[in-house]
Amino acid sequence: MDQAQRRASCRAAGELTIVHVSDLHSRHRRHLLETVIGLRPDGVMITGDLFDGVQSPKPAFEFVAGLRNADLDVFYVTGNHELYRQDVAQLLDQLRALGVTVLENEEVAWKGIHVAGVGFDVWPEDIRFPETEQIRLLLVHDPYKADRLSEATASLILAGHIHGGQWRLFHQGLAGPGQRLLPKYTSGLYRTVQGMSMIVSRGLGDWMKIPRICNPWHLPVIHLLLPEAGPMAEPDALKSGHEPVKETH
Ligand SMILES: [Fe+2]
Repeated sequence: MDQAQRRASCRAAGELTIVHVSDLHSRHRRHLLETVIGLRPDGVMITGDLFDGVQSPKPAFEFVAGLRNADLDVFYVTGNHELYRQDVAQLLDQLRALGVTVLENEEVAWKGIHVAGVGFDVWPEDIRFPETEQIRLLLVHDPYKADRLSEATASLILAGHIHGGQWRLFHQGLAGPGQRLLPKYTSGLYRTVQGMSMIVSRGLGDWMKIPRICNPWHLPVIHLLLPEAGPMAEPDALKSGHEPVKETH
C-alpha cells in the first residue's frame, strides 16, 4: 500500500481531533476556552503545569470546568509546578471530581486509541501499553523523559515544560528549565532518540519574570488518522496544527 492509499484508508477508518494544552500555569487567557471549545475536539490533553507553584488554582479550575461543561473529554498529567504545591493531592481530587482523567503512570482505552500518562515525579520507563495495533498516545510533561523510553513505546508523545526556550531566535529556543541552554525540544514535531514522534508545546502561560520574546503562546491541534489495521506511528499520518493564542493582558 503506497502512502496515498494508506492515508485514504486512515480517513475511511476515522479521525480524532485532539487539542494539546500545556503549561497554563493557572493564568487567565482570554478566548482560550472559547477557542478550544470552538475547535470541537474529541479530547483535550493537558501535559502538566496546569497549576502553578504560587498562583491561585482558581483560573485553572475555571478553564477545566468550562471544558467539562462543554462535555469535552479531558486527560491530564502533572508537571513540576503541581508538585511544588502542598495541596497537590486535593487539586488532583478536584480535577477527578470534575470528570478529568488524571493519569498517574496508567493507561486507558479511549475512542479507538490508548492514552497513557506519567506524572512529573515518575520516570516513564515503566509505562506499559497493552499489546495493540491501535495508536498509543503518551502524555508526559518533560520531553527529555521521552528519550528514556524504549523503542516504539508510543505512537505519539505529547509534552511541554520547556516554554519554547523563553526567547526564540531563528526557530531555536535559548533556555529551558534546569539551566538548559539551547534545549533541543522546544516547539513542534520531533523525532525522539528512539525514533518516536513527539509534539512539544511552547505552552500557554509563564511563571518567569523574564518575558517571552518571539515566542507566542502555543495551542497544538492534532488530527490523528485512525488506521483500519496496523500501527500508525508515521508522521505522514499526523497533521499537526500550531495555533497561537493571542496574548491579552
Ligand atoms: Fe511550565
